[in-house]
Amino acid sequence: MFKISVIGTGYVGLTTGIGLANFGSSVLCLDIDEAKIHQLNQGLSPIYEPGMDGLLKENVTAGRLRFSTDLTQGVQWADIIFIAVGTPQAEDGQADLSAVEATAALIGAHLNGYKIIITKSTVPVGSNEKIRAIIDDCNERGHPFDVVSNPEFLREGRAVYDFLHPDRVVIGVDNHRPVDTLKQIYRPLYLNEVPFIVTDLRTAELIKYASNSFLAMKVAFINEMSRLCDVIGADVQQLAIAVGKDGRIGGKFLHPGPGFGGSCFPKDTAALMAFAREKGMPLGLVEETIASNRRQKEFIVTKIKQRMGAVTGLRFAVLGLAFKSETDDMRESAAITIIDQLLDEGAIIRAYDPQAMKNAKKLWDTDQVYFGRDEYDTIEQADAVVILTEWNQFRNLDIPRIKSAMRQPFFFDFRNIYQRKQMEDYGLVYECIGR
Ligand SMILES: NC(=O)c1ccc[n+]([C@@H]2O[C@H](COP(=O)([O-])OP(=O)(O)OC[C@H]3O[C@@H](n4cnc5c(N)ncnc54)[C@H](O)[C@@H]3O)[C@@H](O)[C@H]2O)c1
Repeated sequence: MFKISVIGTGYVGLTTGIGLANFGSSVLCLDIDEAKIHQLNQGLSPIYEPGMDGLLKENVTAGRLRFSTDLTQGVQWADIIFIAVGTPQAEDGQADLSAVEATAALIGAHLNGYKIIITKSTVPVGSNEKIRAIIDDCNERGHPFDVVSNPEFLREGRAVYDFLHPDRVVIGVDNHRPVDTLKQIYRPLYLNEVPFIVTDLRTAELIKYASNSFLAMKVAFINEMSRLCDVIGADVQQLAIAVGKDGRIGGKFLHPGPGFGGSCFPKDTAALMAFAREKGMPLGLVEETIASNRRQKEFIVTKIKQRMGAVTGLRFAVLGLAFKSETDDMRESAAITIIDQLLDEGAIIRAYDPQAMKNAKKLWDTDQVYFGRDEYDTIEQADAVVILTEWNQFRNLDIPRIKSAMRQPFFFDFRNIYQRKQMEDYGLVYECIGR
């Protein structure tokens, strides 16, 4: 049984820890956030992810999964150490590697035998070489170690499922020694013939940025099509279905919305753009993807104003704050830009999200935004409803009840959940995108 420490117990670290324990390893998840570890030690997940609570409890009960803030002990106990700390966007657009570098230094200072250090955090090209150099510098007793790049491709909202059913596992190495161990850790996947791509460190690092940038570009593309459809009177929904049926394109990530957000696409496209520029090889498509996404969010606010005029003093009921459904993550959510813009222009905001309220309350004071108890409380006396996240519970709202609770009948459906005719039959002024 492998002894694995995972440093950083966020969306990726916690999922990795639970997943690897489920594959049979003994796993210790480590974090500097004491509150998070305390909560986990009580059997509670600090994040909302479908399927996570059950698997967490199962693996803790089976004795394969533990949590601690004692990073030093965690480094010394393990044979294999995953780095899964955050790499947020720095002011210059590059990835902020301070947590990764601090972790590498800690690992180097406490090596007590051969270990494999695996980077799961998304890090720019050349970072694993830097990680190796930092560990080397701090490794005074000269213990042997290997550094591996093993980027993660899970989607929030489907993190557990994606970890257990990945499309591929990417392993970047500078020598072959750790590869067999990696295949053993991921043995159930290997046996299920999930493709393993073994490559060099730099290629593995770039694969992650290329994948996320391509997906972001696909979302930005369909959003552009939705803006064009709006102007020419075509239907982006049918367009997306028809285009997506082409096997060379594929139907995933062709859903128009208020602009991509989350903890990955915005920061990873920005980091790739900054990194490529620094190397003298600007990436026009990636740069335009970022600009296009910004325009989509502006387009949403413009659309509201085109319909309603000045928004000063108007009451907006925003349904959905998380950057997508099935997550409580609000990082870079389009809702933040859109709500801030409306607040700046004097609008009154009422908001509700099934899972992201705790995170939303960190962003706005209760005197800036009224946080509703549920959809219907939020809609009370609103001039407009604005759907920003495609939660299932917003797909079947009691429309007559909503209509009678509102002050004015504007209904902005920026996830294209409802049908125009149905909403207009109820007397609502309905707007969506690209239909
Ligand atoms: N969230 C995703 O969907 C996703 C998907 C693929 C890859 N990634 C990448 O994985 C990495 C982690 O992302 P996340 O979303 O899990 O981040 P997160 O913010 O949810 O979690 C990071 C955790 O690291 C901890 N941490 C920070 N500094 C630390 C230190 N010095 N020692 C120990 N713990 C420390 C934080 O307390 C936090 O719990 C990032 O590089 C991200 O780009 C994220």
